Amino acid sequence: MWRERGIEIKTPAQLQFMRRAGVVVGETLELLREAVRPGITTGELDALAEEHIRRSGAIPSFKGYSHPPYPATICASVNDQVVHGVPGDRVLQAGDIVSIDCGAIVEGFHGDAATTVPVGPVADDVATLLRVAEDALWAGLGAVRMGGRLGDVSHAVERAVRAAGEYGIVPDYTGHGIGSAMHQPPDVPNLGRPGRGPRLVAGLALAIEPMVTLGTDETDVLDDEWTVVSVDGSWAAHFEHTVTPTPDGPWVLTALDGGRAGLGARGLACGAPS
Ligand code: MF3
Ligand code: CO
Repeated sequence: MWRERGIEIKTPAQLQFMRRAGVVVGETLELLREAVRPGITTGELDALAEEHIRRSGAIPSFKGYSHPPYPATICASVNDQVVHGVPGDRVLQAGDIVSIDCGAIVEGFHGDAATTVPVGPVADDVATLLRVAEDALWAGLGAVRMGGRLGDVSHAVERAVRAAGEYGIVPDYTGHGIGSAMHQPPDVPNLGRPGRGPRLVAGLALAIEPMVTLGTDETDVLDDEWTVVSVDGSWAAHFEHTVTPTPDGPWVLTALDGGRAGLGARGLACGAPS
């Protein structure tokens, strides 16, 4: 049974807390997407995020997380930085991309999401990379069907990326279960075989987060012990949402519209309550 694998099953009331956390995260990412422009620093983005999360009555989940304690509210990963970039005085330049990852807690329950934002116009292959990685996320979200298996999600992500061309799918980092902690079982790899793994049941919540590069799938961690970069310097995109299966389809807890537009555009059902 799934409980034996340590998977936390949320009650409907707990999912409502996760939805509230998810809305705060979704709003924060919207706000930061608007704020991104040449000349702004990643530290300034971090301050905006912390202010919005706290003003909303939520708690930033990344600050103080793990060892060494993560020092900021968001991760801001620029260009060849894949994930876990630490915000600071780096100034964003036209043509850069910045992956912003954000988490918040409401009533002890977590929301976690990420998006990659172009800083002004970017090169064509970079713009395509963003589209491929975001499409792969939505393919994964669409595979969160009650009665399905975790491997269906991993496979959907992998298939979407592979179908788009020659990209690196980073295997060293995965999505994850989420609920009363940010990271819970099960891991949600971005590669895998369908029909395998834990069943997708009501009350399960997952953070799905493909990390896709224009080159290698191999990564290194910088001396700050957080920032993950591609080994070959190729640029990377990272998109993430928190999702739970419902009888009507996936409910994307960190999308402000519950996932209706993103799933609908791809012909997929959405289980967000109306
Ligand atoms: N949100 C990241 C994830 O998707 C984790 C960030 S690590 C932290 O799993 F230290 F910044 F919290
Ligand atoms: Co995550």
